[in-house]
Amino acid sequence: MKFYSDVIFPRILDLSMSSSLMSQYRQQLLSDVEGDVLEIGFGTGLNLPYYPKTVRKLTAVDPNPGMSDLAQKRLKETSLDVETCQLSGESLPMGDNTFDCVVSSWTLCSIPNVDQALREIHRVLKPEGRLFFVEHGLSSEPQVQAWQNRLTPIQKRIADGCHLNRNIQQLIEEANFSLSQLEEFYMEDTPKVFKVFGYLYRGVATKTLSQAQTIYS
Ligand SMILES: C[S@@+](CC[C@H](N)C(=O)[O-])C[C@H]1O[C@@H](n2cnc3c(N)ncnc32)[C@H](O)[C@@H]1O
Repeated sequence: MKFYSDVIFPRILDLSMSSSLMSQYRQQLLSDVEGDVLEIGFGTGLNLPYYPKTVRKLTAVDPNPGMSDLAQKRLKETSLDVETCQLSGESLPMGDNTFDCVVSSWTLCSIPNVDQALREIHRVLKPEGRLFFVEHGLSSEPQVQAWQNRLTPIQKRIADGCHLNRNIQQLIEEANFSLSQLEEFYMEDTPKVFKVFGYLYRGVATKTLSQAQTIYS
């Protein structure tokens, strides 16, 4: 399974996630990102060409070594200051309140302990820091949801832990973020049979502090 997830899967992903529509979504998502930025689940670096000049430094984390091998070409081509780290989002070594923005594109579906990763993202963001996300997840249509629940065990096996049925809005709100922008829609080119894969959550969430955190900060 290691050969599949470290060698074969990164190549499948790189091909399947570089469509012009997905590139358009990446560009739209990243246009307001600025300052010190953390990208969770950097993958093969497909977001790199779309980071604006307002980014001071990008720290990119991904636990899969096969992904970073494929990202090398894009890393060589960028003029951005990028530090890549082979790390899981659930346990980040960065200090509290480090980043102005965190970016997650099609990643929250794949992180095994996504609640823990969102707590880490919240911790490393500065107060009022923003999480920019575009993610696929649980559809609003019950019929599609039923298929997403049925197919998730297979999807997890063939797509390196990817869940089809995560409610991204709920996960982000439960992690103490407030959603300043949220759109939910099917990807424009989604044929009916692929609705299970194509339901997107796109938006920006701001780090909020609990009352206790506000008093002690
Ligand atoms: C579907 S890919 C998306 C890659 C990239 N974000 C993109 O937009 O092309 C999901 C990514 O999440 C990464 N991932 C899986 N588990 C993770 C974890 N625990 N922490 C951070 N990233 C993880 C995978 O290695 C993979 O690169």
